[in-house]
Amino acid sequence: MTQIFETSNIGSITLKNRIIRSATADGLADADGRPTGELIEFYKSLARGGAGAIITGFTGIQKNGKGSTHHPLMLDRDEYIDDYKKLTAAVHEYNTPIIIQLNHAGRQTRKRITGLPTVAPSARRDLYFLEKRPKKLTDSAIEEIITNFAKAIERAKKAGFDGVQLHCAHGFLLSEFLSSNMNKRKDQGGGTTKNKFRIIERIFTEARKRVGDFPILAKINAYDTRKMGMRTPEAVEIAKYLQDAGCAAIEVSCGVANDGFITVRSKKFPTAAALEYSYLLRYLPFVIKKFIQPFIPIFVPIFTKPQKQLDNFNVPAAEEIKKNVSIPVIVVGGIKRLDDIERIIFENKADYVSMSRAFICEPDIVNKFREKKQTESKCVSCNFCITCIESMPFKCFNDTR
Ligand SMILES: Cc1cc2nc3c(=O)[nH]c(=O)nc-3n(C[C@H](O)[C@H](O)[C@H](O)COP(=O)(O)O)c2cc1C
Repeated sequence: MTQIFETSNIGSITLKNRIIRSATADGLADADGRPTGELIEFYKSLARGGAGAIITGFTGIQKNGKGSTHHPLMLDRDEYIDDYKKLTAAVHEYNTPIIIQLNHAGRQTRKRITGLPTVAPSARRDLYFLEKRPKKLTDSAIEEIITNFAKAIERAKKAGFDGVQLHCAHGFLLSEFLSSNMNKRKDQGGGTTKNKFRIIERIFTEARKRVGDFPILAKINAYDTRKMGMRTPEAVEIAKYLQDAGCAAIEVSCGVANDGFITVRSKKFPTAAALEYSYLLRYLPFVIKKFIQPFIPIFVPIFTKPQKQLDNFNVPAAEEIKKNVSIPVIVVGGIKRLDDIERIIFENKADYVSMSRAFICEPDIVNKFREKKQTESKCVSCNFCITCIESMPFKCFNDTR
């Protein structure tokens, strides 16, 4: 029987166990996107704490694709390779593999951050970010993005990462291409699933010329709540295309920014955190904040579609995807308990689980699980961590709220 705390392989990557730290933007890079000493110390704590493998927070591949979180990582320049070498060497001291998540933020970022207009497959406005309509990408701009992904993958290999993960989830650019809600293109980049997948397929092809069989993973949405958005049967088709393209493993997630917090679910909308830290609300005058405070928890659920399932919420979709591919499937989303992890793995619903918030709360959660000191994360899913990330480095608010 598959054991949770034994080593296993995803391509050439040897994982220490089956519990992975899912990509989590931490706000600990410097203003230009280089890893800092503080960031390296945090990653060391994750490695020391027993994570089977670590996936970094999203890392921009070019300037107009920089994420809108506080000080996100960037890997758009060769000069950064030496900085990243320090990060990979520090994590490897603990025999822990580290995978860098590469991203273009598409329309889900801000001009204030990138200094440039947002871009997307189609000129459709995002209702969470409320920026101007994004510019529809031209063919040559798409080619540039493909090349920049491939170059960033090559830099990642040179910097000592064990693999990369393409961020094709959560409504960022590659996910925008995959979703018929956001991709209305009439050319070979839109319409059929195969066409919508084309940009990702091209990234694999271009990257292979530079890095050979270096592991390239992908994080995808199995579903969202948007009209004509992603649904699991189409995600299954995408998973098969990924497998054909040579993807090393698929991480299954859900949701886009316009869905509200369905990717990162909680019982209660984090109103206090939104008023203090979110980009749209934090600069409002105190009296206005006081006035709107009681209405926020009433109106947010009307505009978003809160989901009832708060734990293990992507497991059924991951299981469906796993039935249709032979490459490893990782499932993320509301996983907090050791007995759930055992059930997911032993019942073959996924090959690996990954967690984000549980690691923010306790970077050593895997050691605690392994040593049976704890069987459940202390994270209460308050979502203050994700709400503060636009204005400061992340932190767990468990002790302070
Ligand atoms: C503070 C914070 C930052 C996140 N940053 C990323 C990111 O950079 N890339 C990504 O794919 N997902 C990101 N996520 C989403 C998580 O990887 C994960 O999909 C989601 O939180 C659900 O998992 P959980 O219930 O274990 O937290 C982030 C989540 C949080 C809370």
